[in-house]
Amino acid sequence: MAADFAATRAMFQLPDGVIYLDGNSLGPLPRGAAERVASCITGEWGDMLITAWNRAGWIDLPRRLGDRIGRLIGAAPGTVVLGDTLSIKVYQALASALELNPGRRVILSDTGNFPSDLYMADGLVRTLGRGCELRTVAPEAVEAAITPDLAVLMLTEVDYRTGRRHDMARLIAKAHEAGALVVWDLAHSAGAIEVDLAGAKADFAVGCTYKYLNSGPGGPAFIYVAPYLADRVRPALSGWLGHAAPFAFDLDYRPGAGIERMRVGTPPILQMAALEASMDIWDRVEMADVRARSIELSEAFLRGVEAACPTLELASPRDPAARGSQVSFRHPEGYAIMQALIARGVIGDFRAPDILRFGFTPLYTTMEEVEAAVRILTGIMATSAWDRAEFRTRAKVT
Ligand SMILES: Cc1ncc(COP(=O)(O)O)c(C=O)c1O
Repeated sequence: MAADFAATRAMFQLPDGVIYLDGNSLGPLPRGAAERVASCITGEWGDMLITAWNRAGWIDLPRRLGDRIGRLIGAAPGTVVLGDTLSIKVYQALASALELNPGRRVILSDTGNFPSDLYMADGLVRTLGRGCELRTVAPEAVEAAITPDLAVLMLTEVDYRTGRRHDMARLIAKAHEAGALVVWDLAHSAGAIEVDLAGAKADFAVGCTYKYLNSGPGGPAFIYVAPYLADRVRPALSGWLGHAAPFAFDLDYRPGAGIERMRVGTPPILQMAALEASMDIWDRVEMADVRARSIELSEAFLRGVEAACPTLELASPRDPAARGSQVSFRHPEGYAIMQALIARGVIGDFRAPDILRFGFTPLYTTMEEVEAAVRILTGIMATSAWDRAEFRTRAKVT
């Protein structure tokens, strides 16, 4: 059954007069979230108090939501769990992968990776103190840099700035051939493109829920561990809720069964309640339909802007198969242009040094909105409406 995107759009609260092309950064509010969170606060936290951990099933929420996200990323039930932030999950996955490959010391990543992933790797290398090394190459050079000394390949599948997409299955096959494990960051993939973790034989994957999955600011991250590794992984962040028997309060750590061991501490229940409301929307669609619509929307935007705004330089791959669900353009005054757009009700964002980013999210973005965004951007560029001091003042968050 084809997805009914008019119905899914109606399930979001979107402000009048705004065209939202930034769901790749922070998803909008699912209408059901306010009600679900309110009932979690009053009916569960308020009325049930601590008994809600059992009576409202809070304790298993990280697994239940993990299974619902798993459907979108090709992960079998019981292989994904939620908790913590994405940076923490990167650390956890990388530490586990390194430990599973004890004879090797090299982590390979690319210079297009999200800086936090590289910072976490750097911190882990220092903490381990066993001479590990983080090596980074240009994204296009990753495949050739997979050498037999590699312990772990750590990549973000879709580049946060340009939307360029790595060939996951191919790089996994190459890395495995070389005896390395692979950690994928799916921040810009989950809910954006079709991902088949099991089919591609991924070892570890991590991602966030506040972008395409709409859990709200600070929503918890997720982690996937392949079933063949899940009972061999020794968690570096060995918190009590990843213990085999948290309520036995043993003094010694024993990892829980499978993916359970990747839990750390008390999960953020209110934020997970918001995510449940978003997953009620996601449950209505198949990723193949979302991806097909995302390509239609992003192609229309890309072609419209290229035709009408010659000074904006395409920063994303032209081939839709080679990019995620965003389109980016470069301009030396990119920041001011984005502020002028936002002032006219078209919300995208800016990434230094010169990237204007636009995300396409079929659950709530319409073709009419894409066409209107192209018109508004064209007007701004044709009249240099961005060329005002007020648009050049940089805010803390860009
Ligand atoms: C690709 C990627 N990795 C990691 C992060 C960091 O996520 P968090 O702030 O949840 O730790 C982000 C944040 O936007 C991201 O885009």
